[in-house]
Amino acid sequence: MQHTSKLPNLETSIFSVMSDLARTHNALNLSQGFPNFKGDQKLIDLVCKAMNDGYNHYAPMLGVLKLREAIASKYDFLYGSSYNPENEIIITSGATQAISSAITAFVKPNDEVIVFRPAYDCYIPTIELNGGKAISVQLNTPDFKVDWQEVKQKINSKTKMIIINTPHNPSGTVFSDEDMLQLQELTRNTNIVVLSDEVYEHIIFDNEKHQSLCLFPDLKSRSFITASFGKTFHNTGWRVGYCCAPRDLMEEFIKMHEFSVFSINHPIQVALVAYLKNPNHYLDLSGFFQQKRDLFLNLIEGSRFKFTPSKGTYFQSLDYSQISTENDFDFAVRLTKEKKIASIPTSVFNEDKVNHKMLRFCFAKTDDTLKRAAEILTQI
Ligand SMILES: Cc1ncc(COP(=O)(O)O)c(C=O)c1O
Repeated sequence: MQHTSKLPNLETSIFSVMSDLARTHNALNLSQGFPNFKGDQKLIDLVCKAMNDGYNHYAPMLGVLKLREAIASKYDFLYGSSYNPENEIIITSGATQAISSAITAFVKPNDEVIVFRPAYDCYIPTIELNGGKAISVQLNTPDFKVDWQEVKQKINSKTKMIIINTPHNPSGTVFSDEDMLQLQELTRNTNIVVLSDEVYEHIIFDNEKHQSLCLFPDLKSRSFITASFGKTFHNTGWRVGYCCAPRDLMEEFIKMHEFSVFSINHPIQVALVAYLKNPNHYLDLSGFFQQKRDLFLNLIEGSRFKFTPSKGTYFQSLDYSQISTENDFDFAVRLTKEKKIASIPTSVFNEDKVNHKMLRFCFAKTDDTLKRAAEILTQI
């Protein structure tokens, strides 16, 4: 059979490449972004209970109403921002589906979408699948700050969407309120839709405040926020996330959702309603991961890697420029094969794979794994 690929240039995901390599070479895997410890038993028990209680058929298309109400209360409690649970919040199959549906709902052929690089890997293929064009704004080491003048220059009549991600994967940096205000000014009185990927909303360090897009009313009126229970509650395989947007944007989103996934895992939604009653389940997360970041960084303090401590997410970028002149992909492969530790070479998220000599390590790991990782890294 002959066919033409819709994404001819798409390569195998770097997460699969590095995780496969880690398995083959029996290496410690700090590449892919998920914990190697079990999530809260209380939540697992709540899911089992929901299954036993009979919540095993289709959930409502937008999600269990009580869960949407719980999410609305969370936005009110954390940010004083209101979303109507009836028509401005939808439960999705992880943030990935939320991102995909939001892009698909709005990006038409020849539309332009501004994407900050390094960018999480699902944005650009989805833009291209819809005939859109990704316009990159490269963030450079060491601080990964946005040059808003460059963004301004790249906005034109074809700009349909701008995608932001804070806290940012892979750099571990966060947007300041000044960044959000700049974005708000640049998009004011335009038809640009903003997609704010906030999956690491609850993992933010050193008393930084998460600048959720919903804190900026004019921005909020044109934007989607996408979020992930998988990231927040240590169960990325359950594939449950959510998306919030004003009603007019959400109406278009729902059209994409209805005929791709229709509705999301029912017992997990029922369990999350009960679990979200205790805000400490998400409020304690920053402290929990900050302790892991600090453990990891204290242990590699004497190594030849250079770093700026991550401000959010559960990723730490390490600069290996004092160690090797290899490009980051080759270096990451060699570390996996020879030193038995796997990471992600961050150039894959950059425009033209520009190489900053940075590797991304995931510290959502047991303390024991982090100690073993540090032992290896300090000997390189
Ligand atoms: C920045 C970012 N956005 C979205 C996702 C996808 O989240 P989910 O697993 O809920 O689909 C990830 C997962 O690693 C991510 O790092």
